[in-house]
This record gives sequence, C-alpha cells and structure tokens, in this order.
Amino acid sequence: MGIESFLETPEGEKSSSGLTKKGGVLLGVFGGLFVGIYTLTGPFLAPAIRKICLPFLPASSAQMKNVFKALGSRSGSLLDIGSGDGRIVIEAARQGYKASGIELNMWLVLYSRWAARQAGMNKMATFKRQDLWKSDVSPYNNVVIFGVRQMMEPLEQKLEKELVQDSMVVACRFHFPNWQPILTLGEGVDRVWLYRINKSSISSKTTNKCDSTNNQS
Ligand SMILES: C[S@@+](CC[C@H](N)C(=O)[O-])C[C@H]1O[C@@H](n2cnc3c(N)ncnc32)[C@H](O)[C@@H]1O
Repeated sequence: MGIESFLETPEGEKSSSGLTKKGGVLLGVFGGLFVGIYTLTGPFLAPAIRKICLPFLPASSAQMKNVFKALGSRSGSLLDIGSGDGRIVIEAARQGYKASGIELNMWLVLYSRWAARQAGMNKMATFKRQDLWKSDVSPYNNVVIFGVRQMMEPLEQKLEKELVQDSMVVACRFHFPNWQPILTLGEGVDRVWLYRINKSSISSKTTNKCDSTNNQS
C-alpha cells in the first residue's frame, strides 16, 4: 500500500495500517529527513566505524608546504591516499604533477572534482571514490599519506609490495614504524617524513627497504 492511501484517509481516522493521516505524513517527513541526513553525513561517519578509523581532517597550509618542500624537484605522477577535499592533489597538479586522489567519501570526491574544475586543474587532478586498502598504488612514483598511527604499519607493507623502485612516499603527522626516512621537515602536527622505496635491500624485515640518501631526482 502506497503513501497516497495514507493521505486519502480522512483526518483522525486510521488507515488499514493503523496510522492516522497525520501519522502517515509525520512518518514520511521524519523518514525522509532521516534518509537525507544519513545520506549527507553517513560518508563522513563511515570511516570512524571501520577497523582503522581515518576521519576527514584537511592538511594545514604548513603541512602542505612541508609536503611539497620534501618532494623537492620530483615530477611524474602523485597519489594522495585518502584525498579529503582534494587540496593536496590540486596543489600537486598546479606544480605539474599528474595528480590523483582516492577517497572513500563520495561527497568529498564530488567536492574535490568541483574544486579542481574551479582551479582549472581538472585535467591534471583526478579523483576516484575508492577504498585505499583495495586500490592498486603501483602506477604512482610519488605518494602522500596523511593517515593515523594504527594504519601506518599495514600501509607500509602494502606500499612496499606495490610501489616501484625509487618511488617516494611522504607521510604527514604519523611516520611509518619500520622504514627509515631520508628527510624530516616541520614540527609537531605539521611534520612530514620522506621515504624512498629501495627494492634492492634484501631483508626479511621492512626496516632496510627504505634508503637513507636524500637524492631527490
Ligand atoms: C586525515 S584526512 C586527509 C585528507 C587529505 N589527504 C589532506 O591531507 O588534506 C583522511 C581522509 O581519508 C579518507 N578515508 C578514510 N578511510 C578511507 C579508505 N578506507 N579509503 C580511502 N579514503 C579513506 C577520509 O574520508 C579522509 O578524507
């Protein structure tokens, strides 16, 4: 039985489902509100109820400055893992990278695409709605992650497996637990660590797989 039948029931009388006309309208209004609020906020809350909680927190301007200073004269492709509102990807595109973002929250993906278009960067800055744990990072030679402490070890293993020799990884706020950074920049919450993937180090431990020379070619 559709909503029309509730609306057709005379005021105060109950429909066959036991609802008055007013009750049906209220149910419709609150149901609609609930669905609307859930659709808008659900994507922001979903990361918080996953095994590893990675909420949306945009990079500060000092943090952004440190990311690009750490990357120095690098070029090529850049991936921001969990790209939020797209600020790192759009800035990377401005600096000449073929920049991509993967992000779980569809609203942030839509916003990022809009912001890239506004900045005239929509050809060089692209965004996909994707789970970082299910995405292939191998095509990128520069990777940025602003994550949380609990994810850094499993992410370290994933990046080590997938990235090619000499790829660079910038970690913001939280460092990788086993890799040795080749450069550290900034203070406190704006600190970033730069790592170079070195596949030639043969070790059963992750520790030796990142090199300690800062050659930013
Ligand atoms: C700390 S914010 C960083 C945003 C952006 N990188 C920046 O620095 O401004 C982390 C982002 O990762 C997203 N995220 C959380 N879990 C994710 C997942 N499994 N896959 C992809 N993105 C995820 C969140 O929605 C959030 O936007």
